[in-house]
Amino acid sequence: MPERPAETAFPIHDLLRRRWSPRAFSTKAIEREKIGSLLEAARWAASSRNEQPWRFVLLERAQSEAFERMVGCLAEGNQSWARKAGLLVLVCAYPKFTPDGNANRHALHDCGFAVGCITLQALALDLWVHQMAGFSGEKARAAFNVPAEFETVSVLALGYYGDPAELPENRRAQETGPRSRKPLVEIAFDEVWGKPASF
Ligand SMILES: Cc1cc2nc3c(=O)[nH]c(=O)nc-3n(C[C@H](O)[C@H](O)[C@H](O)COP(=O)(O)O)c2cc1C
Repeated sequence: MPERPAETAFPIHDLLRRRWSPRAFSTKAIEREKIGSLLEAARWAASSRNEQPWRFVLLERAQSEAFERMVGCLAEGNQSWARKAGLLVLVCAYPKFTPDGNANRHALHDCGFAVGCITLQALALDLWVHQMAGFSGEKARAAFNVPAEFETVSVLALGYYGDPAELPENRRAQETGPRSRKPLVEIAFDEVWGKPASF
């Protein structure tokens, strides 16, 4: 497993430091206990008005027909590596507040937080997550009977780390190259927008 720790100016939790988005997945099945823990991590995420807008459709490799249907919904560039993951997860969101039917403009935000919780819980269990926007929401909706009132948000490839040598040539370098981020001063402001934070 290539170590690609975040380079930070200040210390952060080891799970955050170690997390990255791999593509070299092992085909090894994920224990059901562990899948249960991942879903509990999502279930206990915070959400606006505790709406819990997230829904997850789980496709285990062993469920080969449904799993392949999910692979077929992915963008071509994602298919080659994501099809090895032990689990694919279609993330969906309910875009309204249940009690009054008003628009919930934080539904996607809350789904993102739930996925973040899954991602860190996964890493604590030696499992890795690669989120994907590259998929057809319409295909996925049809393939998995997602109701019209829900939005399709993303797909997660999730599993044990595999062998990077098995990746397509063009993907291999991405598995080891440097990781980059904007500097803190560009994303955090002191007192007023645009005044760089004085770290
Ligand atoms: C919402 C979202 C969608 C993404 N979609 C894709 C994708 O379709 N294909 C892909 O290879 N990577 C995808 N990524 C991975 C990002 O490219 C990756 O997180 C980013 O380059 C930072 O790298 P790191 O996660 O290793 O730190 C996605 C990430 C997120 C959060």
